[in-house]
Amino acid sequence: MKIRRMIVADIKRVCELERELFTMPWPRTSFLYEISGNDRSFPVVGVEDDEVVGYAIAWFVCDELHIGNIAVTGKRQGSGLGKRLLEYMLSEAAKREAAVATLEVRAGNVRAISLYRGYGFKGIAIRKNYYTDNKEDALIMMADIGHNEGENE
Ligand SMILES: CC(C)(COP(=O)(O)OP(=O)(O)OC[C@H]1O[C@@H](n2cnc3c(N)ncnc32)[C@H](O)[C@@H]1OP(=O)(O)O)[C@@H](O)C(=O)NCCC(=O)NCCS
Repeated sequence: MKIRRMIVADIKRVCELERELFTMPWPRTSFLYEISGNDRSFPVVGVEDDEVVGYAIAWFVCDELHIGNIAVTGKRQGSGLGKRLLEYMLSEAAKREAAVATLEVRAGNVRAISLYRGYGFKGIAIRKNYYTDNKEDALIMMADIGHNEGENE
């Protein structure tokens, strides 16, 4: 899988994946804004054989990387692509010298939580009834990604 910045031409396929994978899919306009209207946004796609098979969106705010989403098409899940996308985001965070990474995830999303735990994310808070479709709680996770050299000197 090759990972590159998301472009407008990817949105149609990304929206298909949104509808495949999420009960509250983002609309096309949200992706358009992330690509062309939001300076803080870092949206990427993963491509295999000219087909978008996954994507991720993060925002860089001050010294924080906030991961908005990571998604891999069902037929390719479980083969390491989610890890590749997360590693790509974390390597971008290292380039930008971010100190912490945060995200929120459905409390019942065992697979995603397990992915994030594998990269040092820990649950730091619960937002009760956060998701409006089924009132599921959100687990807020944070990882110290430690690019704050000099802080303790
Ligand atoms: C969550 C998601 C991005 C993970 O991507 P993936 O390509 O399936 O995951 P990978 O193959 O890279 O596996 C990464 C880790 O996920 C966990 N994982 C994978 N399959 C799992 C399963 N069936 N059960 C539990 N954990 C699992 C493991 O921790 C795995 O690491 P390991 O192989 O070292 O054990 C993907 O499943 C997905 O798109 N799900 C639907 C959308 C979604 O929920 N996104 C997250 C929103 S916050």
